Amino acid sequence: MYRLALTLLMTVLPLSASAQPVAQVASPDGRLQVEVAIHDEGVPTYQVAYDGQPLLEPSRLGVVLNGGDTLGVGMEVLSVDRTTRDRSWTQPWGATETIRDHHHELRVHLQESSRKPGGRERRMDVVFRVFDDGVGFRYEWPEQPALGSFRIEDELTAMHVAADPTTWWIRAYEWNRYEYRYEETDLSDAGYALHTPLTMDFSAGDAGEGPYVSIHEAALLDYAAMSLRRIGPTAYEADLAEWSTGTKVYGETPFESPWRTLLVGDTPGDLVTNHVTLNLNEPSRLEDTSWIEPGKYVGIWWAMHLGTRTWSSGPDHGATTEHAKRYIDFAAEHDFDGVLVEGWNVGWDGSWAEDGSDFSFTEPYPDFDLQEVARYARDRGTRLIGHHETGGNAPNYEAQMDAAYALMHDLGVTVVKTGYVDHGMQFPRVTAEGDTAREWNYGQYYVNHYRRTLEAAAEHEIALNIHEPVKGTGLRRTYPNLLSREGARGQEFNAPWGGGNGPDHVPTLVFTRMLEGPMDFTPGIFSLDATGEEANSVPTTLAGQLALYVVLYSPVQMAADLPKNYAPHRDALQFIKDVPVNWAETRVLDSRIGDYVAMARRDRESDDWYLGAKTDAEARTMDVSLDFLEDGRAYTATLYRDGAEADWETNPVDYAIETQTVEAGDRLRIDLAPGGGAAVRLQAGEH
Ligand code: NOJ
Ligand code: CA
Repeated sequence: MYRLALTLLMTVLPLSASAQPVAQVASPDGRLQVEVAIHDEGVPTYQVAYDGQPLLEPSRLGVVLNGGDTLGVGMEVLSVDRTTRDRSWTQPWGATETIRDHHHELRVHLQESSRKPGGRERRMDVVFRVFDDGVGFRYEWPEQPALGSFRIEDELTAMHVAADPTTWWIRAYEWNRYEYRYEETDLSDAGYALHTPLTMDFSAGDAGEGPYVSIHEAALLDYAAMSLRRIGPTAYEADLAEWSTGTKVYGETPFESPWRTLLVGDTPGDLVTNHVTLNLNEPSRLEDTSWIEPGKYVGIWWAMHLGTRTWSSGPDHGATTEHAKRYIDFAAEHDFDGVLVEGWNVGWDGSWAEDGSDFSFTEPYPDFDLQEVARYARDRGTRLIGHHETGGNAPNYEAQMDAAYALMHDLGVTVVKTGYVDHGMQFPRVTAEGDTAREWNYGQYYVNHYRRTLEAAAEHEIALNIHEPVKGTGLRRTYPNLLSREGARGQEFNAPWGGGNGPDHVPTLVFTRMLEGPMDFTPGIFSLDATGEEANSVPTTLAGQLALYVVLYSPVQMAADLPKNYAPHRDALQFIKDVPVNWAETRVLDSRIGDYVAMARRDRESDDWYLGAKTDAEARTMDVSLDFLEDGRAYTATLYRDGAEADWETNPVDYAIETQTVEAGDRLRIDLAPGGGAAVRLQAGEH
């Protein structure tokens, strides 16, 4: 039918063989340029160039609605509007305090031509916002008689990449959500279906001159997550995770898509310090955010991943009153803000990862005195971190979450870690008829579920740290109680069960997954012969673990190891105790994607800076400039570095701690061992 319509169009519409330009819009600095055109058969397209170099060739815009009816062919331009915005806003917490939103907006009002056979003159706007460091565009379907409730069966947004850049990618629609090691290939050798953020290096040679580009989306609200499906050697089309019904998105006008984004920079670091995603999200819907507190925590967690304790009840149950009190004592002694206790609640004894319907979020196991443990923590100046593993069962969780958050609030809990261990398209949904349907956890139903949990939690002044989430699209601006998320391979994969992450994982994560926002990676494993019998399964040195507190941003950071494993390394633990989790500003000092990264961040509460450097399997010497320090001020640098014999495979625990005085203009030489890293505290002296 679609083909027939196209054939008819070709004969009915006075089509030109070439494109009719509609409008151009450039970034405030003029380097990034977007051009919109109408092609043959009234197909709207866009293209993107940076310094005159094409990034995207003309690429299609549009959607297919109910019954294969395309809104994106036979279109005419009614008018275009332009606006400019330049204003700054402040994050309640984050990697940067003040963010400037400076962009040019182009709004193209499209309407189906009255000559399109079967066309109903439906309207659709495409809105572009072009910043110096990226572009976002989205569809808006205004309220109109010809379009009320509708279904999106496909999104036609294409991205014809104008080169074959080196690309870092993971496959979409795999069983284990986003938890895969990144591949590095030419784009033409990447997979058929890819998750975003998709990071690309357009450098022509080995000089790393860029540009660097990341394709992603912003403000994923009430829509399905977008993956990229191959349509050509270097061309992809937006692919929306469909419902079990076959529909991709249910909408009702007025309605809008998330922003499709291209982050663009001259260096890999420009992608990291890029604020396009946050700027494209709506301001906070929470009026009072004063109760949302970043912090550091310890917890009954690694023992389960090592297999020495269990989540389920029995002789090795991890979440006992007595065991929890030992962690609380440790947290109190070392000033940690929270203590996570996993496995405290009824429901872990069956096949929870396949079902989750046994979970109660209010009933503790009999050997865990919830009230007493919470009181014990409060009395010692720390608090419990709640844990709600749902087994990926949204209906079971939604039925209980109000009561569960109210209970947590009463216990003095301010942060709850949620979890969705389920696989592929197996996440349950209860239909209107009461049947169980199975969904992707990044389709529209689960996207909305995660948002419902944020809204319900906010009612009880609870912030969330979501494991197995839908990917991050900057919603933490709109819901600042979305403190952190997992959504990639974290430390747990370095446990003996996990197969390991590889030494290149962290220098890759920084430029891929981390572009989405904070990650609860859970750094700080010091017992680097994890089982004591086998080789180190954690592919870093101890100093490398410290570096993660700076290079992998999260407002909630765990010290993930067992308290007893910190005992022999109190001097190194000091860095974890000192390092902040809330920053005024962030700089990437040096990097090569997948190989190494050095970053510096300034504390929000003081003038101190912290530096983290991480390498892959290769030893390197980094020589970083300290020109970010305040002129004329002396800083005491405490450097936690790899020892001369350190090597992640053979000698991961060899480290040294050194102190020196430095100032702006100095350079710092940092020797990194294979799989190693370094962490530096730069304490500002008197003025
Ligand atoms: C997976 C999470 O990522 C991990 O942190 C947690 O311990 C388990 N699920 C159990 O909830
Ligand atoms: Ca996980």
